[in-house]
Amino acid sequence: MEKFLVTGALGQIGTELVVRLREMYGEENVLPTDIRMPERGPMVGKSFEILDVTDKERVMEVVEAFQPDSILHLAALLSATAEENPELAWHINMGGLFNTIEAARIYGTQYFTPSSIGSFGPSTPKDNTPQHTLMRPTTMYGVNKVAGELLLDYYYTKFGLDTRSVRFPGLISFMQEPGGGTTDYAVEIYFDAIRKGEYTSFIDKGTYMDMMFMDDAIDAIIDLLHADPEKLKTRNAFNVSAMSIEPEMVAESIRKHIPDFKLNYDVDPVRQGIAESWPNSLDCSEAKEQWDFNPKYDLDKMTEVMLKNIKVKVTEQ
Ligand code: SER
Repeated sequence: MEKFLVTGALGQIGTELVVRLREMYGEENVLPTDIRMPERGPMVGKSFEILDVTDKERVMEVVEAFQPDSILHLAALLSATAEENPELAWHINMGGLFNTIEAARIYGTQYFTPSSIGSFGPSTPKDNTPQHTLMRPTTMYGVNKVAGELLLDYYYTKFGLDTRSVRFPGLISFMQEPGGGTTDYAVEIYFDAIRKGEYTSFIDKGTYMDMMFMDDAIDAIIDLLHADPEKLKTRNAFNVSAMSIEPEMVAESIRKHIPDFKLNYDVDPVRQGIAESWPNSLDCSEAKEQWDFNPKYDLDKMTEVMLKNIKVKVTEQ
């Protein structure tokens, strides 16, 4: 049975990825790690390791002890937090990436880490952004992501490391809210729709960004990990997205279930600036061609599932 080590397991992606991998491969074959122990949720009381990814010795120790087949490195600061503290972002995002990819090289594991729509910048073509195009991001997060993509290429060509990655858009989920991202409005809007019947968006109307429901993101990771290596021409990061949306579109979709839902705006100049430097919509054809990327959720289907599950969550609290 394949074994997976996950860093940043308590984050937005890790929370759902660990559950799915454990369903597929068994609890003992998936080791979640993070800088703190889980206090609630499905990881409590099961095998878990405290791991600060900036501590190289500890990274090596945990990988050596568990002997994974794949390292899934998710620990990172998101775009808005990284902009508040660029030095810390460099330390965590680059330090963590380097230590974990080195561990993958030394122990001969497969390596996955997500890149992002944040790897693009204002000079990138905005609509139907191609897989291979200008990448000159203007945020520290973007600088980290582009450097990460280059490192994946470097380790693949120089050391033959089995590197795989995707450029994730904003990810929408009800299990774990993200923190410090520019696309977070598209998650908060659903929680506030249920809790308050209204939402004040920090991203302005008409600002398009790519998004994807978490189920599709988890499917994408698992499908890419198992894709035939012969067919993969891209070893840095594939464009993936399920929808290109802006706040009014999400509000309209919510109104199909909560007709008097109100959307207000109090635009945050920092996050708005970041959003405007990113693409409106990605061209995902290479992911579709090379490993059959095929997201299942459009905006309305996602809205239905989000609202239904958040309602249950909020009533249980
Ligand atoms: N969701 C991320 C962010 O907003 C983008 O990858 O930072």
